[in-house]
Amino acid sequence: MADMDGFREAVNFGIGEKSETQDFHVKGASSLGWGMKDRLSRIFNPRTGRTVMLAFDHGFIMGPTSGLERIDLSIVPLIEYADCLMCTRGILRTSVPPVFNKPICLRSDAGSTILTELNRNVLIDVEDAIRVNASAMAVMFSAGDGEQEAVTASNLTKMADLGYRYGIPVMGVTAVGKQMARDARYFALASRVCAENGASIVKTYYCEGFEKIASSCPVPVVIAGGKKLPEKEALELCYKAVNDGAAGVDMGRNVFQSDSPAAMIQAVHAVVHDGLTPYQAFELYEDLKK
Ligand code: R5P
Repeated sequence: MADMDGFREAVNFGIGEKSETQDFHVKGASSLGWGMKDRLSRIFNPRTGRTVMLAFDHGFIMGPTSGLERIDLSIVPLIEYADCLMCTRGILRTSVPPVFNKPICLRSDAGSTILTELNRNVLIDVEDAIRVNASAMAVMFSAGDGEQEAVTASNLTKMADLGYRYGIPVMGVTAVGKQMARDARYFALASRVCAENGASIVKTYYCEGFEKIASSCPVPVVIAGGKKLPEKEALELCYKAVNDGAAGVDMGRNVFQSDSPAAMIQAVHAVVHDGLTPYQAFELYEDLKK
């Protein structure tokens, strides 16, 4: 029983004042439950509605990629500048100190490596995502792949069911196989199918006509950076993407393979959240690099 000494009666009921209806800053998420919204708010900045995810899950299919040989040396110093970390549970547990209080978008499926064709992707146990306090679970969807389309759609649907049960949003990751088209028609289809099957975030690639992909997807779309580009071009890519409707980036190689990864992630952040032009952002990059 609480101590009643000095108890003060409730007096300020705001009678006659309209209750504030809460609008939510993440696209398509207004009807979700509190846990989902809390996790999405950790990923997407409530001020801008956008995010800079730092992706370093590449090793799960590529092994020790350039820039990711030593996560402790290359990635840990960048964590403070990221809004969200995207990685596997193996790297999270072994190499990411649990002291940064950053949301984790956990790579939650596994399958073949780059040595073979995509095959039989499987899901991790949702309990493990809960154990590491994941804020989202990333699962691939491979549209148009005869063998894998149904398997990956089923994975995504299963993970979305589990995500709704435990309040963890799913990020649908649109695959780009060797034989697949990489145009707006393909990415719009793949992104929309992810959202229709329960994804609360979609990761795809920037391309000509990106505004149609973002506009026809009812949840936020973030773009992967793709292969390493000169810094100025990578910043242009970010600028065009957010101007065409992306809710931010999920960027890996263009950050950790940069000549100055810490300067680069800060420049990307300035484009995504503060609207810097590519020119201004590149100047910032050059300054920070010094
Ligand atoms: C690749 O295995 C992952 O899904 C990456 O997280 C994704 O492609 C983003 O990284 P990058 O910007 O290097 O393409």
